[in-house]
Amino acid sequence: MSVERTFSMIKPDAVAAGQAGEILSMIEQAGFRILGLRLTRLTDAQARAFYEVHKERPFYGGLVKFMTEGPVIVMALEREGAITKLREVMGATNPANAAEGTVRKRFAANIERNCIHGSDAPETAATELRFFFSTAELV
Ligand code: RTP
Ligand code: MG
Repeated sequence: MSVERTFSMIKPDAVAAGQAGEILSMIEQAGFRILGLRLTRLTDAQARAFYEVHKERPFYGGLVKFMTEGPVIVMALEREGAITKLREVMGATNPANAAEGTVRKRFAANIERNCIHGSDAPETAATELRFFFSTAELV
């Protein structure tokens, strides 16, 4: 396994609930190095573009509304096998199916309001990192 980068976002539900610190702590305890991090609020256009892959899905409108309802925390992360490992730390999309000890099991309300995003493949990680961070600002 090689050291790789991935992109993560603490979603508006978790930021509003004051769970960002605990989620960040879980990410750090799983051995990730934080290369970049900031709090921002997605515009409608940004949320639509970020989740464009889902634009034909019935949940797309609700997803965009949710993702723009309040601030999010965007992060660039590094670790061996970062993409797969982060998805493990997150847990399944639907918290009802998420393993014990995962972020979504601990904090997520339902399949839509599920606290955290993580890139799902090397290509999406590269695209999503570029969406929020310039190469120069990642340390
Ligand atoms: P994410 O992209 O946010 O990391 O989540 P994921 O890979 O686990 O799940 P994905 O299939 O990519 O779905 C993206 C986000 O859309 C919302 N969703 N709602 N109502 C629904 O059936 C439904 N399905 C998905 C969730 O917020 C999900 O994380
Ligand atoms: Mg996804």
